[in-house]
Amino acid sequence: MKILAIETSCDETAIAVLEIKGPARDPKFEVLSNVVLSQIKLHKPFGGVVPNLAKREHQKNLPFILKKALREAGFSISNPQFTISKQITNFKLKTTNNKLQTILKREPELLKKFKKEIVNLSAPDIDAIAVTYGPGLEPALWVGINFARALSYLWKKPLIPVNHLEGHIYASFLQKTGVISNFQFPISKQTKISYPHFPLLALIVSGGHTELVLMKKHLNYKILGETRDDAAGEVFDKVARMLGLPYPGGPEISRLAFDGSSTSIRFPRPMINSKDFDFSFSGLKTSVLYYLRDNFKNNEILSNKNLSGRAPSGTRMRVGAPRVFEGGLSASGPEGVRTEFFSEKILQNIAASFEQAVIDVLVKKTGKALEKYKVKSLIVGGGVAANKKLRTSIEKLISEKFSKVSLFLSPLWLTGDNASMIAAAAYFRALKKKFANPKKIKAEGNLRLD
Ligand code: KG4
Ligand code: ZN
Repeated sequence: MKILAIETSCDETAIAVLEIKGPARDPKFEVLSNVVLSQIKLHKPFGGVVPNLAKREHQKNLPFILKKALREAGFSISNPQFTISKQITNFKLKTTNNKLQTILKREPELLKKFKKEIVNLSAPDIDAIAVTYGPGLEPALWVGINFARALSYLWKKPLIPVNHLEGHIYASFLQKTGVISNFQFPISKQTKISYPHFPLLALIVSGGHTELVLMKKHLNYKILGETRDDAAGEVFDKVARMLGLPYPGGPEISRLAFDGSSTSIRFPRPMINSKDFDFSFSGLKTSVLYYLRDNFKNNEILSNKNLSGRAPSGTRMRVGAPRVFEGGLSASGPEGVRTEFFSEKILQNIAASFEQAVIDVLVKKTGKALEKYKVKSLIVGGGVAANKKLRTSIEKLISEKFSKVSLFLSPLWLTGDNASMIAAAAYFRALKKKFANPKKIKAEGNLRLD
C-alpha cells in the first residue's frame, strides 16, 4: 500500500510517500520520499512560531513540496494529455474548479496555486492520503487538512486523519528504513527485534508535549502521565531565550551543554519523586531565571559598560534575540536593541546544568513507568529525542536496569516534525479501514491521544 502523508501542524511543511506492506504484527516500510521544509528562519526573529505566518508559508509551499515528494517517490507526474483533455472535458473542469473553490475557500493563495500547478498533474498511483489533524496550531493544521481534502477529491483517494503525537510514536517503527538509518545511534544492543513489540511504553518529548503513553496494541493509547505546565522542548526554548540564544533553543542548549559542567549549578528537578507519572518544568525555568537575576545583575558579565557594540574578548554578544526578557537581565543598546553579555563558559555551564535537570526527570519517570508496567519495548520520540545526552541516558537506563526491554529511539532524521511518521501511523488505520469523511474532518488544536 502506498500512502502519501501531509504534515503542517507547526512550522514544518512536510510531505512523504511510503510503501508499506505486511500485517500489523510484521509491517515492512519503505520511505519512497520524505520532504521537509522548515520555516525556522522565518520565525526566528520573533523568538517562536507565529501561527498566521506559518499558515501563509504552508499555503505557499505545499504545491511544490507535493511535486517534489511525488517525483522523488518515482511517479511521473506531468500530464502531456492534459491540454487536449481539458478542451474535451471543459464541463468537468468547471465542476472540479467549483468544488476546489469550496474546499479551499479559507486558503485563497493555495487555491490559486492548486488550480495552476496541481489540477493538471496525472494522479499518482497511491492508495490513500494521510494528514495530521491535531494537536498543533489550528490555522496551520487547516492548510494541510484542506490540501489533503482537495487532493482526495481530485484523485479519488481515501483520507486518513492522524494524530501528530501518534506520528512521533510511529517514527520509531521506521528504524530500518530510509537513507540515513540509525547509524550514529544504533538500535540498543539489547534490541533483537526489528519493530517495537506490545505492550510498549512511549516517551513523547516535543515542543508542545511531554507524555508517557502505554500501548497494549496498535492505535491504543493510555496516557500514564503528562506535563502539567511547560513541555520539555518548550522549556528548552524558553531557557534558551533567557540566555539570548536563538529559536529553537533545544539544539543550541545541547550544543553548549556539551562543553559545560552539568554539576556546576544545582537546578531543581520538579516532581522527580512524585508518585504519579506527571511532569512539571515551569519551576525549573523560573529557577534558571532567578539564577540569572541573582548572579548577573550589574556585574562584569552583564554590564552596561560593555554596550559599545563590540563584545569584550572572551564574551559573546547577543543582539536582539530575547523578546521577553524578564527580571532586569537585559540592557538596551544605543538603538534600543537588547544586548547581553555572558561568557562562553558560563553559558555552557548553565546549559549543561539545566539540560541535566530535564534529563534526570525524564529518565527517572520513564524508569518508574518501566518498573510498574512490564512492557516489551520502550519508544522515545519527538523533537527533544534528538538530544544526545537524553539518548545516551535512556540507553544507560535500559542496559543497566531493564535489559529485557527493547529500546527504540526515534531515528535522528525523524525526531523533528516530518510526514513519514504520519504515513507510518496511517498504515495501521488503513488496515482497519479507519478512513475519514472528507466533509467531517477538522483541525483539533488540542487533540489528545486517548
Ligand atoms: O517534535 P518537534 O519537532 O515539534 C513539536 O511537535 O513540538 O519538537 C520541537 C522541539 C523544540 O522545542 C526544540 O527546541 C526541541 O524539540 N529540540 C531539542 C533538540 N532538538 C530539538 N531539545 C533538546 N535537545 C535537542 N537536541
Ligand atoms: Zn512534533
